[in-house]
Amino acid sequence: MQSYSLFAPAKINLHLEIIGDRADGYHQLVMIMQSVNLGDIIHLRANGTDEIRLFCQNPEVPLDNSNLAYKAAYLMQQQFPKPAQNFGGVDITIEKNIPIAAGLAGGSTNAAAVLVGINLMWSLGLTQPELRDLGALLGSDVPFCISGGTSIATGRGEEIEPLPDLSDIWVILAKYSNLSVSTPWAYNSYREQYNHLYISDSHGINQRTHQVHSGNLVKAISQRDSRQIGSLLYNDLEKIVLPQFPTVKALIDAFKAKNVLGSLMSGSGPTVFALCDSQNQAELIALEVKQTINDPNLKCWVAQMCTHGIIAL
Ligand code: C5P
Repeated sequence: MQSYSLFAPAKINLHLEIIGDRADGYHQLVMIMQSVNLGDIIHLRANGTDEIRLFCQNPEVPLDNSNLAYKAAYLMQQQFPKPAQNFGGVDITIEKNIPIAAGLAGGSTNAAAVLVGINLMWSLGLTQPELRDLGALLGSDVPFCISGGTSIATGRGEEIEPLPDLSDIWVILAKYSNLSVSTPWAYNSYREQYNHLYISDSHGINQRTHQVHSGNLVKAISQRDSRQIGSLLYNDLEKIVLPQFPTVKALIDAFKAKNVLGSLMSGSGPTVFALCDSQNQAELIALEVKQTINDPNLKCWVAQMCTHGIIAL
């Protein structure tokens, strides 16, 4: 086929813990990642030229080679020069629904969709682990976005191990449209303030990773205990972002006051999420919090946890 459309879900972090530094300048992490069914649609089409062209109606999305979706197509051209020559360039149209620079892996999931889509379009027959290895060359969250669902992510975030699926939990996502947080700034500030706590030996790192793996949140996920999952949410980057952005802290507090299962900042923020047991409850609480905060810049979405990453439509 000469064209494909793919659904690219956003992700939230149920657990994000910074364990230490790495020789490559990144951080050693242990995270529990969860896909949600708020997603972008990516259309790919062989365009008969040798160019990669990006299209998106949202003016905030860059359409040049700085976009991770462009980089993903370029990587495929470099890795597979023969099929690239046979099929020519690719037009990538992004229907953007995931908020940008939000801590929801919007850019990473678009890149993941381009890898999965070109694999199909060029009939390369790459497996999920092979696609994840390519994804890791583009960004730490790309490998998770390819397979999605519920997973524990270690290393820089690129080493993925699936956990039992969750799907019956509803997720309110809330973001101020006039607020964005730089991920490098959040991680670098964390290093400045907390590097005295970093674990540096590989034994210690493995031990901490193992503790999370056999810990209460993974148990709660296995038992699909939504109340327990909500009470165990954790994100180290809140220590950096919340003091700088009091409105984000206030948003988390507003959700907690509504008796949600739990509320947390996702990734490096500034998106906040809150977990609920039903769609009705999630929609009602989203409305109530919007009324309480009464700021036209506050946008809310209601999504559901989902059990997949990129899927062809
Ligand atoms: O991998 P990605 O390009 O998405 O990472 C964005 C930034 O987040 C990195 O440049 C780095 O500052 C920070 N980061 C980190 N350690 C990780 C992942 C991301 O320090 N494991």
